[in-house]
Amino acid sequence: MLKLPGKIVHHKEADDLFHELAITLIGLAQQAIKRDGAFHIALSGGSTPEPFYTDLIIDPRYRGIPWEVTHVWIVDERRVPFDNDKSNIKMIRESLVSHVPIPEENIHPMPVMDEHPDTEYEAELRKHFSGEDMPQLDFILLGMGDDCHTASLFPNSDAIDEHDRMIVINAGPNVTPPDRVTMTYPLINNARHIGVLVTGKKKFESLERVAALHKLNHTDPHNVPISGVKPILGDIVWYLDHAALLGE
Ligand code: 6PG
Repeated sequence: MLKLPGKIVHHKEADDLFHELAITLIGLAQQAIKRDGAFHIALSGGSTPEPFYTDLIIDPRYRGIPWEVTHVWIVDERRVPFDNDKSNIKMIRESLVSHVPIPEENIHPMPVMDEHPDTEYEAELRKHFSGEDMPQLDFILLGMGDDCHTASLFPNSDAIDEHDRMIVINAGPNVTPPDRVTMTYPLINNARHIGVLVTGKKKFESLERVAALHKLNHTDPHNVPISGVKPILGDIVWYLDHAALLGE
C-alpha cells in the first residue's frame, strides 16, 4: 500500500470514507468550540467533495456539527461570478451551506470579482483571527487534481513560490482557466488539521508520485504541488477510497 506524508484513512467505498471524515469533523468542531467558541473550516471545490457535502446535510448522524458557531472559508475560487457553474462557493452553497443553520456572516466567499480579492480576503481573515500573524484555521479540506495540484496551486504556477502572503491571485499559462484566487502554503500549512480527500482510480498514479517523493523524504512543490502541503504544528490525514489508494 502507498505510504504518504501523514496518516491514511482508507475505505473501499467512498460513503464509508465520508462517514469517517464527518465523524472526525464533529470531534474537531467540538474541540474548537470548547477552546475558542468557534470552528473555522476551509472547504475546497471540485467534484470529489460535493457528495461528501451532501452527506453532511442528509445524514442525521452528522447533526452534531455546530453550524451556528462554524465559519466556512474557501480554499480557492475561480474568478467567475457567484452564479457561474464554475464557482466553488456556488457548489458549496448548493450542496451544503444553504441547508444548514450557519449564519450568513459566517460564510466567507472569496470576493473574486473585486479588483483586489486577495488583499480583501486576507483582511477578512485577519478580522476573525486578530493578533495572529498567520491565522490558524481549525480544519482545511483539500482535494488533489490529476496533476497533483491542490487548492489552486498548479504545477509551476506563480502561487507555488508565495511563502509570505496568505491569499494570492494565481493566473498565467500554468493555471487551468479561469484565473484563480487561492490560499497559499503558509496559510494552509498553519492549519491545526488538514484533510486531503481523494477518490477514484484516476488519482492512483498521482498518489504514486506523492508516495515516491515521500519515500525519498523529498518534496517537489513546483511539479507535485500537494507535496508542499506540510503542516507546521498540525496534522495531515489522507482520506482515500481503495480506487485511489490501490488503483483497483
Ligand atoms: C478547485 C478545487 C481543486 C480541486 C482539485 C480536485 O477549485 O477545483 O479547489 O483544488 O480540489 O482540482 O478536483 P476534483 O475533486 O474535481 O478531482
